[in-house]
Amino acid sequence: MKDTRSNPETKKLAGVQAARLIQDGMLVGIGTGSTIAFLIKELGRRVREEGIRITGVPTSFQSRLSCNQLGIPVREMQDCAALDLALDGADEVDPDLNVIKGGGGSQTREKIVAAMAREFVVVVDESKLVATLGAAFPIPVEVLPSGLAYVERAIRDLGASPALRIATSGKDGPVVTDNGQFILDVRFPPGTDLRAADERMHRIPGVLETGLFLDLAGKVVVGGGSADGPAVRTLMRAK
Ligand code: A5P
Repeated sequence: MKDTRSNPETKKLAGVQAARLIQDGMLVGIGTGSTIAFLIKELGRRVREEGIRITGVPTSFQSRLSCNQLGIPVREMQDCAALDLALDGADEVDPDLNVIKGGGGSQTREKIVAAMAREFVVVVDESKLVATLGAAFPIPVEVLPSGLAYVERAIRDLGASPALRIATSGKDGPVVTDNGQFILDVRFPPGTDLRAADERMHRIPGVLETGLFLDLAGKVVVGGGSADGPAVRTLMRAK
C-alpha cells in the first residue's frame, strides 16, 4: 500500500543526499522502498567510484537484491546487534519526527534495524510530512496468519478498523511479508492517542510488530522544492 502523492524527483534528491551520510568503514542499515532505492543506487556508485568500504544490512529481500546487483557488501541482520547508522524511508512523518512505516510491508525488520543503529535517519520527499500521523495513512501491523481472526477482533475492540492487505499484482490473496506473515492496515478514529493504541496492539497475541516508529528517528532528510528550484533540508528531533 503506497502513497501516490509522492514525486520520484524529490525522492531521488533526498535519497542521493542521504547516501552522503554514509562514511568509510560503517556498518549501515539499509531500508526499503522507492526512496531508498535511489539511496542504494548512489551508494553503489560511491562504492565503485569513490572506493568507500562499507557493509550494508538490508531490511528486505528487495534491498538485499539491489545491494547485490550494485556490488554493495551485505551482512544478514540476524548477525548484527549494533549498527553505526540506519537509513530508511517512511509513509508519514509528524513534526516530532515520529513516523509511520510499512507501506512496503517491511516494518518489523525495519524497526529492528532502526533500533540497533546508533543513529536512525528517515529519508522522504516532502509529501510525507503531515500534521498528525494516521489521518491519511493507516498503521500497518504485521500479524501471524494463524492469529488473524483473533487479532482482527481484538483490534476492532480497540475501536479501530483493520483491513487485510491484499496483493494487487503478481499474486492472488493476501500480501505475505518477507517473514511469511500477513499485514493488517489499521485505521483509528481521528483524535486517537496513537502511542497508547500502539502499546495496546503490542499486547495482542499474534501481533508481530506495528509500523509506528515513535522516538526512533534522530533526523529526517526531506527532498522538496520551491520556486527557486529543488532543495533538500534536514529536520532534527528536539532533544
Ligand atoms: C517499507 O515497508 C516502508 O516502510 C517504506 O520505507 C515506506 O513505505 C516508504 O516507501 P517509499 O520510499 O517507496 O515511499
